[in-house]
Amino acid sequence: MKFEMKDRIIYGADYNPDQWLDYPEIITDDFRMMKLANTNTFTLNIFGWSALEPSEGVYTFDWLDDIMDRMAEADQKVILSTPSGAKPAWLSEKYPEIRRVNERREKELHGLRHNHCFTSPVYRKKVSQLNRLLAERYQEHPALYMWHISNEFSGECHCDLCQDAFRDWLKEKYGTLDNLNKQWWTSFWSHKFSSWEQIESPSSIGESQLHALTIDWSRFVTHQTIDFYQNEVEPLKELTPEIPSTTNFMGGFPLMAPFEGLDYGKFAEVVDIVSWDAYPEWHNPNSSDFDVAYRTSFVSDLYRTLNDNNPYILMECTPSNVNWQNVAKLKKPGMNELQGVHSVAHGANGVLYFQWRKSKGSAEKFHGAVVSHDNRDDTRVFKEVSELGASLDKLKELSDTRKPAKVAVIYDWENLWAFNDSQGYGEKTKKYVETVQEHYKYFWDKGITVDVCTYNQDLSDYEIVIGPMLYLLPNEMVEKIETFVENGGIFVTTYISNIVNETDLVKGSDPIFDTLTGVRIEEIDSIYPEENVHFTYKNKEYAGKEFYESVYLTNGTSLGEFKDQMFKGSPAIIRNDYSKGRVYYMAVRADENFLNDFYDDLLVEKGIQSDIEILSEDKVVIQTRENNQFRYYFIMNFEDKKKSIELTDFEEYYSVLEGKAIQAKDIQLNAYDYIVLRKEL
Ligand code: GLA
Ligand code: ZN
Repeated sequence: MKFEMKDRIIYGADYNPDQWLDYPEIITDDFRMMKLANTNTFTLNIFGWSALEPSEGVYTFDWLDDIMDRMAEADQKVILSTPSGAKPAWLSEKYPEIRRVNERREKELHGLRHNHCFTSPVYRKKVSQLNRLLAERYQEHPALYMWHISNEFSGECHCDLCQDAFRDWLKEKYGTLDNLNKQWWTSFWSHKFSSWEQIESPSSIGESQLHALTIDWSRFVTHQTIDFYQNEVEPLKELTPEIPSTTNFMGGFPLMAPFEGLDYGKFAEVVDIVSWDAYPEWHNPNSSDFDVAYRTSFVSDLYRTLNDNNPYILMECTPSNVNWQNVAKLKKPGMNELQGVHSVAHGANGVLYFQWRKSKGSAEKFHGAVVSHDNRDDTRVFKEVSELGASLDKLKELSDTRKPAKVAVIYDWENLWAFNDSQGYGEKTKKYVETVQEHYKYFWDKGITVDVCTYNQDLSDYEIVIGPMLYLLPNEMVEKIETFVENGGIFVTTYISNIVNETDLVKGSDPIFDTLTGVRIEEIDSIYPEENVHFTYKNKEYAGKEFYESVYLTNGTSLGEFKDQMFKGSPAIIRNDYSKGRVYYMAVRADENFLNDFYDDLLVEKGIQSDIEILSEDKVVIQTRENNQFRYYFIMNFEDKKKSIELTDFEEYYSVLEGKAIQAKDIQLNAYDYIVLRKEL
């Protein structure tokens, strides 16, 4: 059961007063400025370990006591962190086992952060002791609102402790070595293991091509990270059972994508609420802000879906620039407020920044923050932050709204790992995430809410489910899809689907999936990125790229054929009616023109429409949230120019921020501007 944030939109930042303990006047100023910034919530203590426990067993909680009390007085809620993301030097010095070993089997020196061993019993014990003290001390504190467990869990450790834990995990999974050898196909290249001790995590100086090993290692890393998280949470749950816990998930790069390193589909099952950190590269010359926005939307929708569709939290973003990006570009005027509202439009009930105040030294001193080095409250950035705070306060009536979806797109981490690791399709052209995002984009462009599901999610409430490139497809998932179609759902899938099982063994054929799609695929051709393949669909010609397949119809109906390349004349787009539902198969990576026409037809078929339509030429982004009484429309301008918007529906809407009714005929949006409209249902 997820924690349901119903009554508030939280707004604030990571607050790191432990950097300023020698500057009491700065801390006093912080509290003065928080009021001006219209915040209501802060994350505290993320990197506070060495300030709380300067040497082993010596605790100095007084500064945190003081800040917690001041937070309560200032009417600010606290998301209190467990500080395990950065370890104190004394710990690394005394207990070398806590320091990570990298994939080349080199032991790291002390330094950086987020780089402890997840298995080390010492680290687990030290963290758990400190967490217990935090919970004991602040369990009754009026400011305590939520727990923030560690920071951005990531990476992997290859130390002996982790190797042993990996082998135990494998023993549990496969039972016998003989079974493991079979499932991993170790007879190839004479890779058969004759003892468990011979199995090691993947390494660039060791085993890197045993695909089943690699994917199991990724699964193990997720498992061990979650186990570490649960060890952290245990004392907190015992002492503060009512206080929810989260940990900040990440976005992936260079283009905004889900973080690849951990299966958040699994991780989300154990957190009480999903939160994530978004650092999109706005205003970059290689993609428009529209493109950056839809990719960010995709990740937001995925993480919201993982949160059982309850409101999630945008735990970190920057109010201005990101120091570690290739170009540390500022957000243009309006962009900060737009990004915050955009998150809310996708279902967030909270927007926080990294960080409240710019550090005076060290790694991130030039990262954007609410308060800059000049300590002023009248800067452009401060004023924009404060304006967003005021706006979110006016939007708080939205906090009990949700985003019901009829359409879902499938994105799955195990599939991503296995497909990316496979050799045989084309190194640069796999583009799993980008392809899923392309399918997603059609619906996003139309303002139709989409859930993004992993293999773990229940599909039964959707009308359309789209699963592009389901390379690794577990049999249970095939059965789930079958049930979905039997009950009347439309399922869309593509080339390179259902190729391998969970241990990366090639399936060859699959009676259920093949019956569902109504086709038999014989060959797949990978073509050079410079080439095209052409095909028809309903008598119109389209271009495809990179992959296309030779298809033999078993029960399906061809809706169009290839016009050139090797499989000229063979079906390219296939429909198959199955039980009460229908399956579409795309045997080609089609371009956007095709996806637009195809999904237009599908929406008509299912009678799904956009909630609102924009008549003007100018492109804007629309998202909706709703409850039983109202539907809210977020209309957002992701371009650096003014726009006049006319809605199809000429009725009156209520503009939530302006607090008055407006005519939908003529809405003016400035550059990076937005409006939130409300209509009774
Ligand atoms: C991450 C971290 C923060 C900070 C920001 C900077 O999200 O969690 O501590 O380093 O990046 O962008
Ligand atoms: Zn380790």
